[in-house]
Amino acid sequence: MSVVNHNFDNIVCIVQARMGSNRLPGKILADISGKPMLGHVIAQVKAASTIKRIVVATSDNYLDDSIIKYCASIGVECFRGSELDVLDRYYQAARFYNANPIVRITGDCPLIDPSVIDTVVKSFFESGCDYATNTLRYTYPDGLDTEVFSFEALARAWKEANKQSDREHVTPYIRTSDIFSVYNVENEVDLSSRNLRWTVDEESDLDFVRSVCDNLTDCSPILMNDILGLLDQKPDLLNSNSGAIMNEGYYKSLYSQAIAKAAPRLCLDQSEKWFARSNKTIPGSSQTFSKGYTQYVQGVSPVFLKSGAGCLVWDVDGNEYIDYVQGLLPNILGYANHEVNLAVTQQIAEGHSFSLPHPLEIELAEQLVDLVPCAEMVRFGKNGSDATSGAVRAARAFTGRDRIACCGYHGWQDWYVGTTTRNSGVPEVVQSLTQKFDYNDLDSLSTLLEKHPGEFAAVIMEPVNFVEPDPGYLEGVKELTQLHGALLIFDEICSGFHFGLGGAQKFYGVIPDLACFGKAMGNGFPISCILGKAEVMTVFEEIFFSFTMGGEIASIAAALKVIDILKTTDALETIKSNGKKLQDGLNVMSSEAGLQDCIKCVGHPSWSLIRFSDIADCESAVIRTLFIQELNKRGILSLGAHNMSTSHGNAHIEQTLHTYANVLKTISGWLNETQPESFLEGPIIRPVFQAR
Ligand SMILES: Cc1ncc(COP(=O)(O)O)c(C=O)c1O
Repeated sequence: MSVVNHNFDNIVCIVQARMGSNRLPGKILADISGKPMLGHVIAQVKAASTIKRIVVATSDNYLDDSIIKYCASIGVECFRGSELDVLDRYYQAARFYNANPIVRITGDCPLIDPSVIDTVVKSFFESGCDYATNTLRYTYPDGLDTEVFSFEALARAWKEANKQSDREHVTPYIRTSDIFSVYNVENEVDLSSRNLRWTVDEESDLDFVRSVCDNLTDCSPILMNDILGLLDQKPDLLNSNSGAIMNEGYYKSLYSQAIAKAAPRLCLDQSEKWFARSNKTIPGSSQTFSKGYTQYVQGVSPVFLKSGAGCLVWDVDGNEYIDYVQGLLPNILGYANHEVNLAVTQQIAEGHSFSLPHPLEIELAEQLVDLVPCAEMVRFGKNGSDATSGAVRAARAFTGRDRIACCGYHGWQDWYVGTTTRNSGVPEVVQSLTQKFDYNDLDSLSTLLEKHPGEFAAVIMEPVNFVEPDPGYLEGVKELTQLHGALLIFDEICSGFHFGLGGAQKFYGVIPDLACFGKAMGNGFPISCILGKAEVMTVFEEIFFSFTMGGEIASIAAALKVIDILKTTDALETIKSNGKKLQDGLNVMSSEAGLQDCIKCVGHPSWSLIRFSDIADCESAVIRTLFIQELNKRGILSLGAHNMSTSHGNAHIEQTLHTYANVLKTISGWLNETQPESFLEGPIIRPVFQAR
């Protein structure tokens, strides 16, 4: 849908305001430095040079008579409409005032910055989009939310949106239905990680805004930079509520409107047929344990996929899913990314498994040396296990020692898998050489290293997975490792790229001797690498780390393209901000469902995990299986992690949140029954082994 003939003259800012807030009733007229909150909002909006007219849209509830009275006292126009169908209220107000475009501001943002409003309005006109905002990806503080949209877009949403949450929150349909062209305005400095919360939902928010206004009496209007400057001077002003969840009210309303009901089963006839066939020729019916039927709900979940595009996959029966597994993490740009596929097919057309090395190997090595702090030299492999096993061999050769201390999951090779319960086939003597230590527990590592002084070649660990390192932990590990004369290897097969192109080592500022990257490097094409200090890496001239496909060039071409895209676009930021919406949404709705003790999303937003815990009458594995069962039936493919890709767009996130709401409400009801297991439609999913 495209929009023409916009005219600055018809621009109307509609400020929505009502007395009946759920959390802080009457907040809209609460006193802030001698003036009601709504008065601050109006004064700030008036200072925007692009705003010609301001209308307060309130409800026809008698409680809102006081808003009408207040607006009359300061000479601001008011419009009254439906209390709960706010989309209708906006539409009727926009029609009445012949508004086009409409600027939407909510009355609980007294620190709204007029210059931010102007920026979003100008971007709306310049981009020619249907909807411009600064909220699709949060780079501004919460509370500077500005949305600008055409009357045509509003009218279409008004006609078509039928979910209660879409009507209550006005713009979700415009933002997420994929019908409209949307444009996001980003702040020059991404402030998202500071969790600045300048909106008013709770009493503590009001306290914060009052202190800001009391401290900035000379500023009229108050601009974002004034407040940032004030916070630099007086950091203690940061309200106790910063870090609270953005858009919490929206997630709550999604949950309140959700329906508790088991979803119907999908037709999986073709999956079952292929499964029966695969049993005869492929032990375990899969090449990877985590992709196998035992990791899903047998009879309910698909067993075979046939195609994928972006974040979507289709199973052999034609069922469509939003995929949060993404091939077990590699597809950071989604399935069948056009640019990566083009780079690969161009390379294939020129040959890709050569008899001598190819210059692209050097180009990729140089790129990685530039990006990853520990990297001075690089060797390539295909699987993550190639890299971790190569790094372990290099450490043994370099130190002349045999023992390995490990923490996390590191792949299928003997040296590691011997530490797990799936150690069958691994000689005991090999098993005894690798020992585990606990994450975020320096004593556990130090006790292990002290048990065999001078015998450890390396400490290998995932620097981060779904638990973030405690302050000083990674530094402590490095110190202990050095003290014991061992090498520190960071297994960044998962954290690599999801935590930034420099990996977790750059993110946390702790540089290991060696590191391993894989998975996301090739967006699904097989490529991994060991990188590290030249002094250590030169042992690769002596040790045997050599295999036919090590320098296969199509995957190296893929990796170069992936790096190029991640370097030159905001892909990683998009992943993080969409991942945060899922994480926040799930956690808010899980609490609403009373399930906060057993279903909680943890970890970094770019790669988070839904953690299931035992509760009094139900073990976690049952809850997890019920969750995956209900997600799969509703078209979400999940193993309980958010393996985010750039192709998970607003509409997919929105659909997932709606699905989470329905699934959580359904499971919440089942957990109140005496036998929650009776709602299982297949066997309980058991992990292959517990590594993390
Ligand atoms: C942290 C980590 N290291 C190593 C590996 C092994 O990688 P691959 O399965 O590609 O051999 C994995 C695989 O999941 C992993 O998550």
